[in-house]
Amino acid sequence: MKKTNLYEAIFKRKSIRKYDVTPLDENTLTEVLEYIGAIKPMYDNVKTEMKLISQNEVKGLMAIKAPHYIVVSSEKKKGYLTNAGFMLQQMDLFLSANGIGSCWLGMAKPTKKVFINSELEFVIVLAIGRAIEPLYRENIMEFKRKPLAQISNITGMDQLLKPAGLAPSGTNNQPWFFTGNEDAIHAYCVKTNIIKALIYERMNKIDMGIAICHLWIAAEHFGKKVDFICDKEISSNPPSGHYYVTTLKMT
Ligand SMILES: Cc1cc2nc3c(=O)[nH]c(=O)nc-3n(C[C@H](O)[C@H](O)[C@H](O)COP(=O)(O)O)c2cc1C
Repeated sequence: MKKTNLYEAIFKRKSIRKYDVTPLDENTLTEVLEYIGAIKPMYDNVKTEMKLISQNEVKGLMAIKAPHYIVVSSEKKKGYLTNAGFMLQQMDLFLSANGIGSCWLGMAKPTKKVFINSELEFVIVLAIGRAIEPLYRENIMEFKRKPLAQISNITGMDQLLKPAGLAPSGTNNQPWFFTGNEDAIHAYCVKTNIIKALIYERMNKIDMGIAICHLWIAAEHFGKKVDFICDKEISSNPPSGHYYVTTLKMT
């Protein structure tokens, strides 16, 4: 274990839905727990928690049986769903880089006793375990994703936008759009109608954190330092049908 080149994992990871349900060995689980402590938040001021739980501690609509799940809970503050997506995607990539399968589960929930004494709100679950299907995509063409021209109007920055576009999302919805230039990338999320909002509004915010995580990893890979800021002027003028999420200020 312990491969931490998350950038490389972006180009080969995939959701794993078939697991060997034998529990992972103690060393591996210890390293997963250690990595939880190394995960970076997007927003420092939002308290979050990640727990490793077992199969009998998860319920809900899921055909996906895995030996373990990571469950994220968070303080309910502005940006908390996006922050949780940003954080858990680091784990998704870390696991993939280290030969362990994972899959985000939007329909699963932990049992009540998991958060019995917690004031934090449950956000999402990630199934994890040994894959009994191919762990990686062999070719970038295997990703079913929107073309770059549909997710951004920025030219000449494919090395950052391409990894963002490869991010996983609930039902592969890919709700993101990016504008800006080499100093700052602005991230927006597609607006949903009232009916779709019931399913997608929450999920889309988590998806945004996942794509922003890929963008951040790629920017750091190419030697940039990223700060997440709110650009007041940009935020009041989003592209039609979208709302503003954040700006990645790059130096
Ligand atoms: C927030 C979120 C929720 C998801 N929920 C489920 C789920 O409940 N069941 C499932 O099989 N896959 C789920 N997925 C996985 C997506 O279907 C998958 O990421 C997407 O189709 C892209 O495929 P890939 O991850 O293999 O690249 C979810 C993904 C995200 C990001």
